[in-house]
Amino acid sequence: MQTTVEVKTPHLVTALPGPKAQQVIAADDKFMSPSLTREYALVAKKGRGAIVEDVDGNSFLDFAAGIAVCSTGHCHPKVVEAIQKQAAELIHISGTDFYHHHLPQLAEKLAATLPGKDAKKVFFGNSGTEAVEGAIKLARYHTKRDKLIAFYGCFHGRTLGSLSLTASKNTQRKGFGALLGGVEHIPFPYAYRCPHGHSSETCGTETLELLEQQLFKRLFAPEEIAAIIVEPIQGEGGFIPAPAFFLQELQRICNRHGIMLIVDEVQSGVGRTGKWWAYEHAGIEPDIVCIAKGIASGMPLSAFVAKESVMTWKKGSHGTTYGGNPVCIASAMATLDLIENGYMENARKMGDYIFSRIGDWPKRFRIVGDVRGKGLMIGIEIVRDQKTKEKAADLRDTVISKAFHKGLLTLSSGENSIRMSPPLLIDEEQAGFAIRTLEECLRETEKTI
Ligand SMILES: Cc1ncc(COP(=O)(O)O)c(C=O)c1O
Repeated sequence: MQTTVEVKTPHLVTALPGPKAQQVIAADDKFMSPSLTREYALVAKKGRGAIVEDVDGNSFLDFAAGIAVCSTGHCHPKVVEAIQKQAAELIHISGTDFYHHHLPQLAEKLAATLPGKDAKKVFFGNSGTEAVEGAIKLARYHTKRDKLIAFYGCFHGRTLGSLSLTASKNTQRKGFGALLGGVEHIPFPYAYRCPHGHSSETCGTETLELLEQQLFKRLFAPEEIAAIIVEPIQGEGGFIPAPAFFLQELQRICNRHGIMLIVDEVQSGVGRTGKWWAYEHAGIEPDIVCIAKGIASGMPLSAFVAKESVMTWKKGSHGTTYGGNPVCIASAMATLDLIENGYMENARKMGDYIFSRIGDWPKRFRIVGDVRGKGLMIGIEIVRDQKTKEKAADLRDTVISKAFHKGLLTLSSGENSIRMSPPLLIDEEQAGFAIRTLEECLRETEKTI
């Protein structure tokens, strides 16, 4: 797979952060909201392919992709061209009030990527949280029920509706008072820490029992539940895949009780796992699918796609000023073409390649507890001791920081995991650099304990 640039690996020319980066960070400290959580001092200036250059001329290999957003890499020429062309023609016309040929064009293309015979309808928004808000509203409207079930460890966004579902870190909820009522959380199948000793294929059996035998009987009658919302691979929660059987059983339970199954593909979707949607690995057909991040290569666009039989709301029930902005849609059209014509297959191949080289890390590094994921959504869980599985957030942070100082951008995920979520166009040379760099960082970090 060819990347779109000649420079494929990083090059550092200053100590980090460099002098210009320090100036930006000082200004940022003065004027920006202190709620933002910067993991290290990257001050980005340019991006091409999987390479990001900072304000001091240091270049980095980007295995974070702007939190799994830059699916086609940074500034892919075809994406840039589509954006520029559209920006010169029409930047905005609100899709709530007016028509625009791009809207049904992208809706049709997107709907065609979802498996199943049911006709689909699409609503465009601007961010992941907005897709989730819309999905909650649609599920409530369609079912005329209000209760919602989500999972511990899940992340669905930070606006008040989606935050009511999010159960990732208490700092994300603390201080904001009462959230939506009628929301319950149940354990997510986390095979590495399965309290019942199940494998990654069978973990979750007890959660399903809890749902049917306890929650349905003691808290919410199933006929009161509007939706169960699930990430097929928990993203912010630690890159934890749900077993296929678990998603299939959830679907069966939802179908039996007329509950909407909402699958949140905001982080796992758009080809990242080697299929359009991570839930396809389980062969299910959710009622509503939430999409954002990778869909438009960095332009703010999200969508939720529902079965036509579910998107039954009436004129005026839901709308948006910017959602489906023509420039974002042009970017998405170019993005989906690129994903379809090579990058999705590359994500599968490169994912297999990376797993073949790092699958034995738990044997080779005593601080690696688990390596998991699918395609280019790869989580590495860092522990202090493999036997006790004590979570080692400090060691994880050290590895991430060391990687940054060697020119590799990664992100944390969950309490003590590292995530690799590079653009889908990376090649073996880049994967090899990332693997070697992380190995060095793990080795160095091990020596500190
Ligand atoms: C699975 C999932 N859902 C929803 C969101 C919220 O998306 P946004 O930050 O665009 O609102 C995220 C963000 O990380 C996510 O990972």
